[in-house]
Amino acid sequence: MTKRNTLYLLLVSLMTLLLLSGCPNNQPAEKQDKPTAKTQVTTEDPLLFPKDNFTVETKTVRTSGGDKKVTYRSYMHIPYVANPVDVDYESLNVSVPIEIDGIPIDPANAPILLANGVGGYMSFNNKTGGFGLPAGFFPGMRGAGAPEGQGGEQNDAQAPVEGMPPGGGTPGDTGRMNGPSDMNNAVTGKQDLALAAGYVVVEPGCRGRDNQAKDGTYYGKAPAAIVDLKAAVRYIRHNRGIIPGNVDWIISSGCSAGGGLSSILGASGNSSMYDAYLEKIGAADADDSIFACACFSPITDLDHADMSYEWLQGKLPLATGKLVDQKLSKKLKALFADYQASLKLSGKNGYGPITADNYEDYLMQQYLIPSASQYLKAMSKDERNKYLAANPWLSWDGDNARFTFQDYIASTSRIKGLPAFDDFDMENPEPILFGDKTTNARHFTNFTLQQVTGDPTIEIDQDLQKVVNMMNPMFFIRQENPGCAKHWWIRMGSAESGIAVTVSNLAISLENLGKDVNAGIYWEAGHCVDDDPESFITWIGDITGYTLKAGAGEQHRSDSK
Ligand code: DHB
Repeated sequence: MTKRNTLYLLLVSLMTLLLLSGCPNNQPAEKQDKPTAKTQVTTEDPLLFPKDNFTVETKTVRTSGGDKKVTYRSYMHIPYVANPVDVDYESLNVSVPIEIDGIPIDPANAPILLANGVGGYMSFNNKTGGFGLPAGFFPGMRGAGAPEGQGGEQNDAQAPVEGMPPGGGTPGDTGRMNGPSDMNNAVTGKQDLALAAGYVVVEPGCRGRDNQAKDGTYYGKAPAAIVDLKAAVRYIRHNRGIIPGNVDWIISSGCSAGGGLSSILGASGNSSMYDAYLEKIGAADADDSIFACACFSPITDLDHADMSYEWLQGKLPLATGKLVDQKLSKKLKALFADYQASLKLSGKNGYGPITADNYEDYLMQQYLIPSASQYLKAMSKDERNKYLAANPWLSWDGDNARFTFQDYIASTSRIKGLPAFDDFDMENPEPILFGDKTTNARHFTNFTLQQVTGDPTIEIDQDLQKVVNMMNPMFFIRQENPGCAKHWWIRMGSAESGIAVTVSNLAISLENLGKDVNAGIYWEAGHCVDDDPESFITWIGDITGYTLKAGAGEQHRSDSK
């Protein structure tokens, strides 16, 4: 072939290529398949929010101000990553209120409630609308696949779930669980109340410790769930101006394991530790910090939870009437004292350093007495007298409840064994959470590892420790992570046992960081009970300064942040 023929052929090939590609300015195909750079959204973008692809739905939401009829746009099953491992989990639903009681509203600048429904560190399936636990795991909560607004049935006969006690429910509860009303429900009620307040609601699915491929490998072990939730945040941010709502006002919520995940989402904003994982699933390249964070009964600070459990509950008998191994319990209790000292926390109002020695006193002052007092104050005289007769360890001085910390602890019960989380047999949710692709469960604390191996010097391997850190909000709070959320709403029940200290440590460490923390205990409430969901909704209005005005959409208050 002559030089001229070769040149001619080259020219023809080039022109054919240009013609086939349609537009000389098009990027190469492989580039288009990847997530776009920060806030750049193009029509070919796989992470573009499908703003025109919705159905219009209505629901009636019960509020203390009466029923509200909410008309909203419903966007279902939208993948939030470009390369999902399992799109059934890595998708989200968006509900956008457009009319309340017949009056149109403009949701363009509304706060966005990102409500995860995770329980037991199991997966949450966005396609079926359920988590990997059977209906009834949380009494009164909508179970897997149950229709909107219908509570999951309590079903004690259900098959045992690996890593959870038989019969559903949550270990460590002696008190009231979620009531029959959807409004009094930590997981589902808030979404409806948020819609009725004019907020946008995003409900993401995510992978969890139970996800297993056909070949038997696991694909949802830690840190998959938090990586997915971060990807959901990035998806929302990536769609700034396209997805309705104010993407700088993302408020995350969850209860129990979901509360734990919410706390990590709040504390670890923009940490580069997750980058490789996020890149792998094709998450948007966007800011993943959130504005505010709500954690209901969070199961958190997992690598220190065995220690605090023994500090609090070590001398309580199990349901069998037997005590756990007191020698080991004391060892864990001593480790808790070291850990507590290492946190260097200070109490509110000039209380000074909080140590294992004065923590009881602080918990009494700040949380328990105020909570019991509020509960008793709200009762009629007759009701109160009945309550006091049934709980003789408690008295009432006309203003305040009086009791000792030890009596309070004795009124709870110990259902978790020793160690309470990283158990020797690896049957609890947590060791199963920390499995890997080919291993169902792994020990994740040095204490348990040393006990089971008999080697007092052995430590968790560094790669696993990194994952354990990625699953712990305290790790990021202790580092004063600049991407930590500014506002926090933290709640638990007085009748759930064994998580009080991890929850209060979360609250106090955030207060010590200068965060705006609204923390409290609901008296006589069990796991995930939310006695006051409307206050949470009002709080979102307070921290954002967002209120609805009839007919005119959103208005900013003068005190808006
Ligand atoms: C949950 C409860 C637990 O006691 C636990 O250890 C882990 C998760 C839950 O209810 O999500």
